[in-house]
Amino acid sequence: MIIGNIHHPECAGLSPVLLQAVILAVKANPQKCDPGRYDLQGDDIYMNVMRLSTQPAQSKKAELHEKFIDIQILLEGEEIIHYGVTGSTRKCDAWHKEDDYQLCAEIAGQQQVVLEPGMFAIFFPGEPHKPCVQGTQSAEIKKTVVKVNHALLA
Ligand code: CU
Repeated sequence: MIIGNIHHPECAGLSPVLLQAVILAVKANPQKCDPGRYDLQGDDIYMNVMRLSTQPAQSKKAELHEKFIDIQILLEGEEIIHYGVTGSTRKCDAWHKEDDYQLCAEIAGQQQVVLEPGMFAIFFPGEPHKPCVQGTQSAEIKKTVVKVNHALLA
């Protein structure tokens, strides 16, 4: 997991591919985009723009991926993301291979990060994350998740 800010992505120590993905996403101006999928580099780098309501942590499961890296960028509002290190998931459902995700009910040694607009959190394959968690009350947020094919880093 890596956190950073879209205004200074070069300060986050990202590999060239991930830095480029953040730059491509920012250039695509997601603040102005309607919700939906936008290809940034074919099927290997694309972004999903979303408007969501944050929810209580207990109403959601953590997700993890095998093929794609997530760059979760908050655009509006405030969002808490629960996460853990690789191997920390417990009580997992079956893998959804086609859609590249698995859901798990628990993260052992769970951590959390509070995203403010402009911040990003990057989760690598195998790192569980539960985005869109609320603080004291639910709030509307706008965010984009940039999906980066992990094979690009090989
Ligand atoms: Cu994810």
